[in-house]
Amino acid sequence: MSAVRGSTITGLGRAVPAGVLTNADLERMVETTDEWIITRTGIQERRIAPAGVATSDLAFEAARQALADAQVPAADLDLIIVGTATPDMIFPATACLLQDRLGAPRAGAFDASAACTSWVYACAMAHGYIAAGLAETVLVVGAETLSRITDFRDRATCILFGDSAAAAVLQPAPPGQGFLSFVLGSDGSGGSLLSVPAGGSRAPASFETVERGQHFIQMNGREVYKFAVRMIPRAIQAAADRAGIALEEVDFFIPHQANIRIIDAAAHRLGQPREKFFVNVERYGNTSSASVPVALYEAWTEGRLAPGDLGILVAFGGGLTWGACAVRWTKASPEGTA
Ligand code: UT7
Repeated sequence: MSAVRGSTITGLGRAVPAGVLTNADLERMVETTDEWIITRTGIQERRIAPAGVATSDLAFEAARQALADAQVPAADLDLIIVGTATPDMIFPATACLLQDRLGAPRAGAFDASAACTSWVYACAMAHGYIAAGLAETVLVVGAETLSRITDFRDRATCILFGDSAAAAVLQPAPPGQGFLSFVLGSDGSGGSLLSVPAGGSRAPASFETVERGQHFIQMNGREVYKFAVRMIPRAIQAAADRAGIALEEVDFFIPHQANIRIIDAAAHRLGQPREKFFVNVERYGNTSSASVPVALYEAWTEGRLAPGDLGILVAFGGGLTWGACAVRWTKASPEGTA
């Protein structure tokens, strides 16, 4: 990218619900075993928001923390983008609900919808706005309450998903600092492999759609798995190429946390040490658009990212969509971490 200026993350925040759903809990709900879930996915537990808590509630808590971390008042925000597949409602956008709650009178606000890739797409947009001089300070949130669209009678999907949110504040940075490249992709021909079929204009919510469970996530897990294993290494390599860096120079990878076997396969295919890949899927499962920013937040608070480090963030999901970005990390870890 030959921008006059780039952007970097100056604040991070995260909100995970306290409620834990373990594999043992799921054994009591559907015909499954802790052993099957761990060997096939690596997931041990996931967080579930209590009744009455919506996506914007988690987004608000994560955003509040990110703004405090960046030392930016909400009134200074130019733009709020919420990446989510589980908005509070079809409209208004969850970003508008957040704008009101934060008290951000100057901010434009909209949602980005690219399923699990939404937060990476939203960062690309925020970066573009900043690089073009259309915004100085952008809040980018990934927030999900996937439990609301999960069929807890379907063992093929209900073991995978969880609720959480994370937020980042993006502000201008010199070229070569912060975001170095973005790669976004899609293949709509695979749309039916991962979808929520009803509730939109094709199949408006009705008694029948609810009876058929079409307001829940439907997934062809095996095909999505194959797509992910093929596309993650390509997206990572493309982001590195576009940034003009070699994978050997990369200090950390933050992959979408969907399945430990997908992450292992990506590391193997790229010939990169597995230790470079941050993993927390065992604690949260797949939290869609919140997955990459929650992992980034935890890698940062655990002291695994140092200013000057090179990293690549990568996500994939429904659409089908994928996205990756290279970053030169600029943010010191919070005090008290290694
Ligand atoms: O953000 C993107 C979202 N999605 C993903 O990333 C999902 C990608 N896909 C996956 O992670 C994997 O495909 C799954 C974890 C979903 C499934 O693992 P798999 O190794 O691909 O299993 P499978 O779907 O091929 O199913 C194997 C067997 C089947 O039984 P049969 O047909 O061999 O008799 C399933 O019925 O495992 C059965 N099965 C289960 N057994 C116990 C499916 N779910 C379960 C379960 N417990 N929870």
